[in-house]
Amino acid sequence: MQEKTVIRFSDVSKVYYLYKSSKQRLMGTLFHHAKCKTNRAVDHLSFEIHQGEAVAFLGRNGAGKSTILKMVTEVAFPTEGEIYVDGRVGALLELAAGFDPEFTGRENIYLKGHILGLHDKEIAALEEDIVAFAELGDYIDQPVRTYSSGMKARLGFSINVNIRPDILIVDEALSVGDEEFKRKCVSRINQLLTNEHMTLMFVTHAVGVAREFCSRGIVMNKGRAIFDGPIDEAIARYDQLIGKK
Ligand SMILES: Nc1ncnc2c1ncn2[C@@H]1O[C@H](COP(=O)(O)OP(=O)(O)OP(=O)(O)O)[C@@H](O)[C@H]1O
Ligand SMILES: [Mg+2]
Repeated sequence: MQEKTVIRFSDVSKVYYLYKSSKQRLMGTLFHHAKCKTNRAVDHLSFEIHQGEAVAFLGRNGAGKSTILKMVTEVAFPTEGEIYVDGRVGALLELAAGFDPEFTGRENIYLKGHILGLHDKEIAALEEDIVAFAELGDYIDQPVRTYSSGMKARLGFSINVNIRPDILIVDEALSVGDEEFKRKCVSRINQLLTNEHMTLMFVTHAVGVAREFCSRGIVMNKGRAIFDGPIDEAIARYDQLIGKK
């Protein structure tokens, strides 16, 4: 049975404009005639991901992987082309973005929950799980500015894996946090993939971890997909690209 499409990129490009000064940037934004260099971070990219698929994005630094994920979470927007996303998106990113440092961890759970489109009642039902998973002890009721970066990551992960996302986005994120927390996240992600039919978009340079979660791999090079297929073949293509074989 063919699963429904939950993510579709149709001929998507993302162009960054590199101005030499903020004055040039302003002129460029307002009048579109300032000279500047451009960087096509994503170049005419098309793919579809079906519900329940776990897809790894592999590629060198600067290949466009994070830009793709940012466009799915609507942190960045395509310059050309169309993106279709169906479902609630949870994101584990390297930086636990979006927290208010003056709010406590618990208050930030509500803040994030609202941003993700949940109502107070729904968040309240999940609050205990989120707090328990984060294992922050008394710090859950302290302002987030008092957290270490690992603690912020824990809170961010805990919120995003416990809100029952339809689509989970993971960008190199499992490299933060200590071993034990990492293991807990891995097993939680596996559980969501098996039981909740979640869809996963996974960016990593650690191909072993990609193989653990994903059955499909897309290899990116200079903003283009140069391979899209079974994970083992994708890893072989990636190894070739980085000159490992
Ligand atoms: N906000 C930005 N402004 C200008 N250029 C950007 C911006 N964000 C990314 N880029 C550029 O877009 C290209 C793709 O970046 P991206 O972060 O998507 O790469 P990546 O594949 O995630 O790399 P890495 O493996 O290092 O995380 C790079 O050349 C980068 O310099
Ligand atoms: Mg990146």
